This record gives sequence, C-alpha cells and structure tokens, in this order.
Amino acid sequence: MKLHIITFAVLLTTGALQAQRLPVYLDETQSIESRVEDALSRMTLDEKIAIIHAQSKFSSPGVGRLGIPELWCTDGPHGIRPDVLWDEWEQAGCSNDSCTAFPALTCLAATWNTDLALRYGQSIGEEARYRNKSVLLGPGVNICRTPLNGRSFEYMGEDPYLSGRMAVGYVKGVQQQGVAVCVKHYALNNNEHERYTSNVLCDERTLREIYLPAFEAAIREGGAWTLMGGYNLFRGQHACHNQYLMNEILKGEWGFDGAIISDWGGTQSTHEAIYNGLDLEYGTWTDGLSMGATNAYDNYLMAKPYRQLIVEGKVGEKELNDKVRRVLRLIYRTTMNRNRGFGSINSESHIQLAQEVGAEGIVLLKNDAPSILPLDLLNSTKRLLVVGENAIKMMTVGGGSSSLKAQHEIVPLDGLKARLAGTGVKVSYARGYVGDPGGEYNGVSTGQDLRDSRSADQLRDEAVQMAREADLVIFIGGLNKSGGQDNEGTDRADYALPYGQDQLIEALAQANPRLVVVNISGNAVAMPWLNSVPAVLQDWYLGSEAGTSLAQVLVGDVNPSGHLPITWYASLDQCAVHAPVLKQGRQRVADPRRYPGIERQDSTVHLWDIYYDEGLDIGYRYIDKQKFAPLFPFGFGLSYTTFTMHDAKVADATPGAVKVNVSVTNTGSRAGAEVVQLYVQDVKSSVARPVKELKAFQKVFLQPGETKEVTLTLNDRAFQFYDVAAMDWRSEPGRFNFLIGNSSKNILQTLAYDLK
Ligand code: BGC
Repeated sequence: MKLHIITFAVLLTTGALQAQRLPVYLDETQSIESRVEDALSRMTLDEKIAIIHAQSKFSSPGVGRLGIPELWCTDGPHGIRPDVLWDEWEQAGCSNDSCTAFPALTCLAATWNTDLALRYGQSIGEEARYRNKSVLLGPGVNICRTPLNGRSFEYMGEDPYLSGRMAVGYVKGVQQQGVAVCVKHYALNNNEHERYTSNVLCDERTLREIYLPAFEAAIREGGAWTLMGGYNLFRGQHACHNQYLMNEILKGEWGFDGAIISDWGGTQSTHEAIYNGLDLEYGTWTDGLSMGATNAYDNYLMAKPYRQLIVEGKVGEKELNDKVRRVLRLIYRTTMNRNRGFGSINSESHIQLAQEVGAEGIVLLKNDAPSILPLDLLNSTKRLLVVGENAIKMMTVGGGSSSLKAQHEIVPLDGLKARLAGTGVKVSYARGYVGDPGGEYNGVSTGQDLRDSRSADQLRDEAVQMAREADLVIFIGGLNKSGGQDNEGTDRADYALPYGQDQLIEALAQANPRLVVVNISGNAVAMPWLNSVPAVLQDWYLGSEAGTSLAQVLVGDVNPSGHLPITWYASLDQCAVHAPVLKQGRQRVADPRRYPGIERQDSTVHLWDIYYDEGLDIGYRYIDKQKFAPLFPFGFGLSYTTFTMHDAKVADATPGAVKVNVSVTNTGSRAGAEVVQLYVQDVKSSVARPVKELKAFQKVFLQPGETKEVTLTLNDRAFQFYDVAAMDWRSEPGRFNFLIGNSSKNILQTLAYDLK
C-alpha cells in the first residue's frame, strides 16, 4: 500500500498507534469504500451525529479532528447562488460571488439537445467547483402538472422521458467536475401553493409512469450522488422521510448509494428521519419552518434528539452508520476528490454556452407568411419600436432560491441595440405598462429603478402612438419572477398575462400589423390576441446573455430550433388538472380535489389533500385523448427553414434495442435544426394507455439541401407500462405504432412494429 510521504514519516517516528489519529485523507490509494469504512471506524458518536445535519444555512461539518472537510451546498439550478450569511437567507455581501446565469431549465429542455445538457452541466459544475461548493442543488425534474405551478421554470417540462434525458446530461456534466448534483424535489412537488402541507394522493401507475421516471433516469443512468426530498407529503407521510419513496423505491429498487438531503426545512420527525432514509438534514428551524433560535443546529431533528435516543438505547446505531457512510461517500466523491480540477467562473466559454443554450431554446411559435421574422434589416425595417417591461427588466434576481447575482445581464433591449448598431436601424422604446418595478432578492439588487409614475393609459397611448410610426414593433412582455408569477413559494393566480398586457398587445396590433410578440416566462400563458399577431417567440428566462440570445434569433444569426417541453393550452381547462369534471347546477367546473386540493384542518393536522385523479392524463396525453386543439402542442417549434422527414424504417428489431432510422432533409435556404420525435403507441393493451408517448428524440443540424439519417433507439421501457398487480414494468406482445414527427401533433411518418 502506497502511503503519503507525511504519513510514512509519522509512522516511522511515532508508530502505528499515532497513525490511527492521522487525517484520513492522506491515503490516496484506497477505494472510496474502504476509506469510508476507515473513517467511520474512527468517528465518535458526536462526530457521527454532527456530520448528518447542517451547521449553517448551506454547510454541514466534516470531522475536523480527522481532516474531513465541511460540505458546502449551493443553489442551483441555473447558476451558483451568492453566498448567504451563516444563519440567514440574506446575502453575505461578498464581492467575489457573482456568477454566470445560465438559462432556466425550461429553456434547456426546450433545446431538446442532450449534448447541450451535458455542456450545461459541465459549465455550471465548473462554476460550483470554483466557488468551493460540493453539492449543487439541482437539477429540478418535477413534472409540469399544471401551468399554474410557480416553479415550472426550474423544471424541464411535462414529459418524463424528455426531462429524464436532459437530466442525465446535466447530472453527468456536473459530476465530472467532482461536484455532486442534488436532484430535486423528490417527489410529486408539483405546485407551490401550500407546498409544506400538500399531501399528494396519486395512484401507483401514475407515480411510476409520470412522476418518477426523470428521477429514476438521473439516479440510475446519470449516477446522481445526492437527491433532495420535497416539502410535500405523499400518501400522508412527508416526502423527505417517506418510507415508500426513499427506502423502498430509491434506495431499494434503484439501488441509490448516495445521500438523501432534506429540502431546507423539510424534515418533520426524528423517528421517520432515522428509519425512512433521510441522510442529511438542512434548513430546519427550531419550530419547524418559521423561526430560528441561537442553538438551532443542535436542536435539529437529527441532532440532539437523535443522539438522545441512541444514548438511552432506544434506537441502535445501524441507521446512523448507514447515513454517515453515505455522507462520507459524498465527501470522498467531491470535496476530498483529489483528481478534480479547480473549476472556473464567468469564463468566456460559460458566457458563450449561456448564449448558445438561450438562443437554441427560444421557440418560434408563429411566423405567418409573408414572414416578418427574421427581421429584414436591409429593406423594410428601418424604424424599430420595442415595447414592454420585459425588454428592460433584469430577470436573474428574484423567483426564490434560484435567484442569482449575475456578473452581468444583458436585457433584451440592450442585446437588440448592440446587434443592430451600425445597421442603420433606429431602435426606439416605449414602456407600454408597468408590472413589477422591483429588483431585489435577499439583499441582492439589480440596481435598476424601474418605477414609472405615468398612468396605465398614458403608457399605453404613448406605445400605440409610437407603434403607428414604426416599420415594425416588437413587444417583449410575459411573466416575471415576482410573487404569483414564475416564483418559488406561490403559484400563479390564473393563466392570463398580468398588467393588462393582453389589451396592450391588441392595441399595438391594431396600430401596426407588423408586430412580433416575445413572451418571456417559464410557463404557458393565455394568448387571446394570437390571431391578431403575425409572429410570436417564446423566450424563457435566459440569464446573463438573455438579450444577446434573443437578438440572434430575431435577426436570424441563429435559426430558431427550440421546441416546447410543455403543452401550450388554449385555455386552462384543456389541462386535465383544471378540466371541468364536476357538475355544479347546469355548469361543469374544475374539481378542487385536483387543484389546489381539499383543506383538512383539525387540531392535529393541517393538510391540503391533492388528488391526482387525472392519472396519466398530463399535458399532451390528455390533449390526445380529448382530441383538443391546444394553441401549440408539446414538441412544437418552427424554424426559418423547412424540413421534411422521410424513409422511416425499423433498421434493427433486436428486443431491448429496437433501432428506427429516419431521414431528415433541410428543404429551405438556411442552415437549421429539426427535432425528430418518436412517439410509441400501443395499439391494443389490457390496460388503458395514453394514445402515444414520447420514447426517443434527436436533434439534427442540417445545411440547406442537406439530408441526414438519424437513428433512434427504443429500449424495453419504451414499450412497457407499469403493472400494478405485479409491481413491475411489463410489455404485452402485439402491434405497436411508431409515430415520428416534429411535434406531438405533427406526425410525419408512421411505422408498424410487432413486439414478440
Ligand atoms: C427550495 C430548494 C432550495 C433550498 C435551498 C428550498 O426552499 O425548495 O429548491 O434548494 O430551499 O435554498
């Protein structure tokens, strides 16, 4: 065994007994598992108790005596959060903690580009490493069950397969840097309304087929080293220490060997935390969630109360040792991993990647002929008017724990002006409306003062007047990160755009038919003005380079290739969660059981029971079943060029790896990218199955006139449903259809396949 030279010297001079007390990291030749066992064997009860709970807002202690360093976590999931005070959420006021803000995860998902997800993970992992954080709190993979969920922007859409594929790339990229991801929020944390008391009641098949696959992919394929338990309850027990979710599924079926971390304040019971899998307790306040005390950390549910039970002999050390092993394993994989690099921050490549992801995630929703996008800078557009608050509003501050202190943020108006400088196009701006003039979160401020004392009428009249005189108008609005919009801790009040934007857009369209609407949001919104507007872009929260990415797409430097990771419902009742299923007199109304749940309040319990009665009918699955026409279907996205898909064939029918080839041709005059989507349809089944489900996809880049053949591989899971009686995945032999297209509604090639 090769020992570090210092250890060797000490061994020679002081003997083996002394070596026992040496810092345990010195022996680099042992496997992680033997180092874990070695460290565990040297730890006292107090050290074991200490290592499984926080010592500050974002850190837990290592074992100082043994040279095992502290473990530092950070939000996540779009950039590295500014450092906060030891005991407070307020930023610490450091001057070296600004970061690159990467586009929000809905945007990453909208790229449908798994290579980009890997590079995103690598870059954000490098930033975490540079800031000496070992656990990055992300990615978020909760399924978008309702567009009202305030945190949709932190997740990757409505489809378990798409979310899973993107998560795997992110996870691998981050962990290559010796930084652990923390996949969150496991599980069924699908709304922010009453998130601490939401008790989700969801049937087994829906759980397995809709809500767990993205987590499963991140754990089993991505190899995630940590996972975060959600605030909510599942079947009456808190998710953080839910016997079924944590012990039976995650650690049992999936063989997870990493550490389960509680969401900040998600731990509710010492007993359950001991036995139901939780490994690391963070964010608890002494009375649960709302207030602290000076010795808060000692009073954590997995601190003194746990120690007391062990000392009194009421519980053994078996569970404790398992938790400590997992935390040590995490530390050896990250902080004590000597092979990891030093990371980097705000590097050119990170800024470039943020820009690239942003531009590639923007979705062109509408561009009616004669198309006004990309902007014609040579002829028809000399006087360009930009309207709307989101054109000037910085969006990286706000929204909750994902709020960032970006080193720079280019807002849309500035990005556009920079791109158009020297082209002869004159850009003017009108505010149009005032939404949220604030720009502060936990002490981080954008420095913008967006207050405007003019009345709504004055603002609108000015914009409309200026629109009449412009060659083209770009309205940049949508949601923002304030309460009740895309924001942690609250859900949206309704599906409509706020601040009178609908009326303003209508008025602008009347004043100037050459109107482009750019919607910035992490969720779908109602678009009652859609028929009056010839061009619409969906722009997500794009981070540091938001304005640059948008300008690239508007002028055509980048050909849009984003596709929706969510269904864009025409109205809320097209979403099964809000569908009118209850009879009220003559009317049919949405069932509060589904959302926001039924409040249960008595002296001992306060819960919101949320019944996932819609089952598998999430997003396009319900649209397909009802044959609805959404505004824009899941998977939809236009381009400045055109594509055809042809010559689809089953190239290899080997079970477990069925290969489907399909050719794509760029039939237009610009280079661009198409997303080939393969949906599997089970023609006849003993159980009710969705009409079709996404099971493979690939993004393909093509020069004008170029054709490429892509190969999509379908594994066993692509054909299976979750058999509740057998509690296992099962497929039934027989006819399946492979529906191949560029959205869930636009199927261009169909193949029949007989599963033996
Ligand atoms: C959020 C998590 C976040 C944690 C730490 C919680 O309130 O739900 O997503 O990682 O705080 O900031």
